[in-house]
Amino acid sequence: MTDTRPSKHAEEMINWNLVFPNQANPSGNMFGGDVMAIIDTTAAMAAKRFSETQVSTVTVEAVHFAKPIGVGDNIKTTAKIVDVGNTSMIIKADVYRDIGANQLEKCVSAFLKFVAFDNQRKPTRVPELKLAPGDEQANRLAQEVTRAAIARQKAFEKIMAEQVQI
Ligand SMILES: CC(C)(COP(=O)(O)OP(=O)(O)OC[C@H]1O[C@@H](n2cnc3c(N)ncnc32)[C@H](O)[C@@H]1OP(=O)(O)O)[C@@H](O)C(=O)NCCC(=O)NCCS
Repeated sequence: MTDTRPSKHAEEMINWNLVFPNQANPSGNMFGGDVMAIIDTTAAMAAKRFSETQVSTVTVEAVHFAKPIGVGDNIKTTAKIVDVGNTSMIIKADVYRDIGANQLEKCVSAFLKFVAFDNQRKPTRVPELKLAPGDEQANRLAQEVTRAAIARQKAFEKIMAEQVQI
């Protein structure tokens, strides 16, 4: 890896879907796993477009299902790179449902980490991120969420190590 790398703005990916009955959970709302699949796909598209490489999800740093999504809803999913490491990208993704009268209701928010790969599937460097005006808050939030995720991961590893000793 070289020390210099290009720097670029990230583009927001937008993905619209209509929720079908086969995506419902037993309560009749959209199943969280199907929502996650749409988030993961939209985030992958954002990561691939930014890095211009093949990419994979490494972690879901945080996800919050704030409001239910119904069968028959038109949903809009957005995903944008809001922070980068050396080979990784943090993507903020949000899912909104169309509530009519040109209004959207935010239902789900998530932060995911993706890694860029070279042709040998080795993690490879991503461009520097040029933050767009208005993205500073999302960038700060991504850094906080990443710190919290690392702390949670360490606590989890400690608990698992203690369990092994029992
Ligand atoms: C992603 C993967 C290549 C990382 O492997 P690795 O040996 O840890 O690679 P590296 O140490 O070079 O880490 C690559 C990047 O991932 C990050 N990373 C790796 N494990 C991580 C974890 N548990 N939490 C957060 N970030 C992590 C590293 O910080 C690094 O980012 P940086 O270069 O910006 O600092 C490997 O775990 C993998 O192939 N996982 C499967 C991915 C997959 O198939 N996803 C599809 C969904 S199942």
